[in-house]
Amino acid sequence: MTLEPDLFPLQVQQKRLVANDIWLFRLVHPKGHALPTFTAGAHVTVKTPGGQKRNYSLCNNPFETAYCELAIKHERQGRGGSQSMIEQVQEGDFLQVSMPKNDFGLIDQAKEVIFIAGGIGVTPLLSMLRQMHDARSMHAHARFRFYYCARDKAGAAFVDTLQALSNTSEMGEVSFHFDGGNPGLGLDLWPVLEKPTAAHIYCCGPLGLMDAVRDMSGHWPQGRVHFESFGASTGQQFEPSEAFEVKLLSTQQIIPVAAHESILEALRNNGHAVPSSCESGTCGSCKLDLISGVVEHRDFVLNDEEKHHHIMVCVSRAFSGVIEIGL
Ligand code: FES
Repeated sequence: MTLEPDLFPLQVQQKRLVANDIWLFRLVHPKGHALPTFTAGAHVTVKTPGGQKRNYSLCNNPFETAYCELAIKHERQGRGGSQSMIEQVQEGDFLQVSMPKNDFGLIDQAKEVIFIAGGIGVTPLLSMLRQMHDARSMHAHARFRFYYCARDKAGAAFVDTLQALSNTSEMGEVSFHFDGGNPGLGLDLWPVLEKPTAAHIYCCGPLGLMDAVRDMSGHWPQGRVHFESFGASTGQQFEPSEAFEVKLLSTQQIIPVAAHESILEALRNNGHAVPSSCESGTCGSCKLDLISGVVEHRDFVLNDEEKHHHIMVCVSRAFSGVIEIGL
């Protein structure tokens, strides 16, 4: 195996189905050494057999160093990353994996935490809950409420684990909300978010859920609502939309972007290499200057000011017509 810079080989010790279309991968050091410690909420970058690099949240207790665990949803309509992991990786195989990185950790002062998970977005939040249940954790006495939203029980991973953590805990409880595919029948977020408390909110799930939490928590103090999107967006394809064109500043070349294609893919297909990693609008690798045009920003990286001058080309799109980018 030719190792990529900053990636290390780990062996797949276990691969098992933990819900409809969701597979758990347990990874170990090939020589049985302890793995690097991490903090709950961390993710690793994995090079998939298909060659894509994907970020996956770690879902095990971070105090566990004999192994680490990822849960991956089989995104059949995705761009191939999850498909290649689930269809091609077998127990005993080696994967190239980065050191853990964390942009979504539990903050030290959090004495009360509200978790809002949607679908596969449960993974980093499960790790946080496990960390809070470990006596070695500085959050061991924090209180929590954990809301887990999914279409149905069969498609929700770790229900039994969460139930057990809830049953044995005096720190809080886990509630499950299954909407049967009709978001209107799921968790009513307003009673949860209406009155700001001392809690920190950690949300991970589909864009619709995160947008709803964002919209309903605007009156919470700054820095108290935290979002992670890897679990939901890894392999998730952006909604199809109109085709448009990008113009390159340096050569004035016009490149068409099809309705189901990202700007990043269109650039690649035309021989232009742009750095990328997550390809889901969360890592910041693919940022380019925005010279002109109206953009529909779909990333989780840029702030409002930055959106005037930059674009994350893995997910964001033009509203219509042509946009010019600094390439
Ligand atoms: S590749 Fe990560 S934000 Fe675009």
